[in-house]
Amino acid sequence: MKKQNSIFLLAAITALLFACSKKQAEELKPTTPTGPTAVTTANVTYSNFAGALFQTKCNNCHGPNGSVKIVWAFNGLASIKNDTRVANSVLVTKTMPKGGTLTVSERELLQAWFDRGMPE
Ligand code: HEC
Repeated sequence: MKKQNSIFLLAAITALLFACSKKQAEELKPTTPTGPTAVTTANVTYSNFAGALFQTKCNNCHGPNGSVKIVWAFNGLASIKNDTRVANSVLVTKTMPKGGTLTVSERELLQAWFDRGMPE
């Protein structure tokens, strides 16, 4: 009887531990749109959003191997900060990205990023 009790206790503790660690793992999952670590207009930076956007939407044409790098060379954060034509072409005239599109939320986040002074 005593041995059975302790086996039961052990099983209960194991189940509890498993439940806890599973819960923790779920809480640590990265960026769901509504999660605490989601990118918003209040926390958008170059490293959590803007950099990847320029990389995927502009680099093909304006990056080191791009055909129009002579018009504007995308080469990291400084190449955006030092050229007002970038924000202008994407958000005002909307001529860029040429042949591509930005979603409404991408545009909102990018606008917020420029408004916040292009934080790294
Ligand atoms: C498919 C190729 C292509 C892509 C992708 C592209 N561009 Fe361009 N970009 C061009 C071409 C070609 C020009 C030359 C002007 C024109 O033809 O409109 C240009 C011109 C520019 C200029 C010069 C100023 C101006 O308004 O003409 C800037 C700044 C610029 N692009 C920024 C961007 C940014 C930022 C992105 C990404 C969001 C981007 N481009 C994506 C092809 C591209």
